[in-house]
Amino acid sequence: MKHISIAIDGPVGAGKSSISREVAKGLGFIYVDTGALYRTLGVYSKLHSLSPSCELPKITIKFIDGLQHVFANGVDYTDKIRTPEASMLASDISAKPEIREYLLELQREFARTASVVMDGRDIGTVVLPNATLKIFLTASPEERACRRHEELLRKDSAAAPSYESVLEDLKLRDHNDSTRTHAPLKQADDAVVVDTTGNTFEQSVEVMLKTIKERI
Ligand code: DC
Repeated sequence: MKHISIAIDGPVGAGKSSISREVAKGLGFIYVDTGALYRTLGVYSKLHSLSPSCELPKITIKFIDGLQHVFANGVDYTDKIRTPEASMLASDISAKPEIREYLLELQREFARTASVVMDGRDIGTVVLPNATLKIFLTASPEERACRRHEELLRKDSAAAPSYESVLEDLKLRDHNDSTRTHAPLKQADDAVVVDTTGNTFEQSVEVMLKTIKERI
């Protein structure tokens, strides 16, 4: 059976993960969050002082109660990778070609074995160039920072950084992600652009499902 793959790329905070998860649920597909792989390697490298000559840990993905967990050498990193520091570590490590190469096959393997909604930065351009449908999901930097800030406040209002610092981080990560030489964040030529500025979460999911159903 031929599996369907929906590649969703876009800048940080465009709502990729939450929207993709909901869209995958609506379609009955598996949702693969590839940012979690880079986050896990970023946090792992900090904890283990990874140097270029070190062997990379074995990365595995498991779905537990429908939720994606990422393991490095058998250790579950899922609870350690959603901090602003982990975001920066992921952005830094994702610029390294050997890291991207290392994670490539793992990501492709998923799309070979199941119908997936896979989100990231280079899914439509590098990981799944023959994806059934490619979507570039975006929103204005201010709106993306505002959403991310609210998310951090909900998680731990005392520890949450200010909106200004979230916006600054986001612009820096956008810059890092789109100017790196290896597999930068860029819209695939054949991607459909969905801009979620001004939308509620529900509206964005609805637009995405409509866009997908019209095309596959
Ligand atoms: O989507 P995210 O915020 O969890 O991603 C964390 C970082 O990982 C992001 O700054 C860029 C990088 N990344 C990437 O380079 N390629 C991907 N396919 C996914 C994430």
